[in-house]
Amino acid sequence: MQFAAQPFELEDRSPQMRVPEGCAIVIFGATGDLTGRMIVPALFSLQQRGLLPDDFAIVGFSRSKWNTAVFREEMETAVREYAGAMTIDGTAWADFAQRLHYISGNYGSREDFEQLAELLGRVSDEHSCGGNYVFYLSTPPSVYSDVIQQLGAVGLHQANGENSSWRRVVIEKPFGRDLATAQTLNAQIANVFAETQTYRIDHYLGKETVQNILVFRLANHIFEPLWNRRYVDHVQITASESIGIEHRAGYYEESGAMRDMFQNHLLQLYSLVAMDPPVVFDAEEVGAEKIKVLRATRPIPLTQIDQWAVRGQYGPGWARGEYVKGYREEENTDPHSNRETFAALKLYIDNWRWEGVPFYLRSGKSMTKKVTEIAIQFKRVPHLLFGLTPADALNPNAIVIRVQPNEGFSLQFRVKSPGQTIRVHQVSMNFDYESLFNGEAPPAYETLLLDILRGDRTLFAHKEWIEYAWALITPIIEAWESSPASNFPNYEAGSWGPPEADALIAMDGRSWRRP
Ligand code: BG6
Repeated sequence: MQFAAQPFELEDRSPQMRVPEGCAIVIFGATGDLTGRMIVPALFSLQQRGLLPDDFAIVGFSRSKWNTAVFREEMETAVREYAGAMTIDGTAWADFAQRLHYISGNYGSREDFEQLAELLGRVSDEHSCGGNYVFYLSTPPSVYSDVIQQLGAVGLHQANGENSSWRRVVIEKPFGRDLATAQTLNAQIANVFAETQTYRIDHYLGKETVQNILVFRLANHIFEPLWNRRYVDHVQITASESIGIEHRAGYYEESGAMRDMFQNHLLQLYSLVAMDPPVVFDAEEVGAEKIKVLRATRPIPLTQIDQWAVRGQYGPGWARGEYVKGYREEENTDPHSNRETFAALKLYIDNWRWEGVPFYLRSGKSMTKKVTEIAIQFKRVPHLLFGLTPADALNPNAIVIRVQPNEGFSLQFRVKSPGQTIRVHQVSMNFDYESLFNGEAPPAYETLLLDILRGDRTLFAHKEWIEYAWALITPIIEAWESSPASNFPNYEAGSWGPPEADALIAMDGRSWRRP
């Protein structure tokens, strides 16, 4: 069953539909992978779509001894490789390239930051950027604090004089590696920048369906009355990946599924699904409601951790159409590694809306398929008719939010099969983005970059949210790190995860969906 396309569109009354003011974007870590793969291609694509101001420039800063000519060349190669299906004509590239500048320097050197300030002044005059600067930290986390401190030391964090220009700072993930390091980083930022100038990236928040969670819930009247403990049996959030750790052993050995996926992406999805409606749709109000969800989340009882959180690590198996290595055999991992590549977690929210409703979250590498979805599973009907047994009657209704792939929503319910006897059949009514809106949703990085330039922080993580998220996750990570798993590897690559995850949910008489 498909929703028919509506012949009309609601008028766009969004305050954000404006081209940002002129500005210069300084990218620290300009020679790194993220700059060439994501940031610059996204900026190029935005410019091609007419969404960037005429007055903008990009300044790359890195330790490598590149110069502006080399930076332009490298970025051209990167954009040609990563800008998706877009055709790149010579004139368009030439116009973009003349906005790119480069300066090499050390992240802890005041002198080098003074030179950056000087260069920025010239670039701002040349491209009429009006002294508006975005500082994008795309460096390894180890130098975040140096960069922030130096920006403050040379006074780049705030605009001088009475003109109304602005300064913003963007921090990539990972934001800390536990509660203490996240608090330290937040404090270092707060010493220099106000929270309203700070944009902590979580690329999941830029995904189209993630933004749509709130529109779906709050621009319709029929779902919100059901969105609570009276009707919802439980919620499942799955973010499974078919890829392994690829060539990121160095990072992943230090990180693991809890830090890599739960502290940020999964808890963001969880907060958006569970939050109360904000009074207005803006960064402060939405942020405050999301924070309340984490505040109300019951801490995991550490004495019974296995009943609330389970971990897994993939062994060899058939995945992605071939026989693949286990985690411990991947390049540069420890052959006895205790690092989790899968985790599942049960959470309760102690508030009026959700008391008693479990939220089950899971995520892992090298699983059966790449899929991210949120399923709101409704309670069974109160009284059984049509010869249904209690087992048949389990959870007939669900709303599934498909974050990726095939972005969309589906509503599952039961109908009668044709015929003279009453036979009950499960069906699903689907809405999918691509067929309705004719094309792909914009990449998350484009959405987020545009919001940064427009000064809209709604899709960024708030300081307090980050700390509550770490407060929830850190004790689990510490417990796991201090007691090595005796059964790793405990799931085969290409499977749906370890049997312990099935047991976690089966303990409550439920089972994981197979998306
Ligand atoms: C990143 C993680 O933040 O998100 C990766 O570091 C993970 O390990 C990725 O693969 C998943 O993102 P997406 O958009 O592909 O679901």
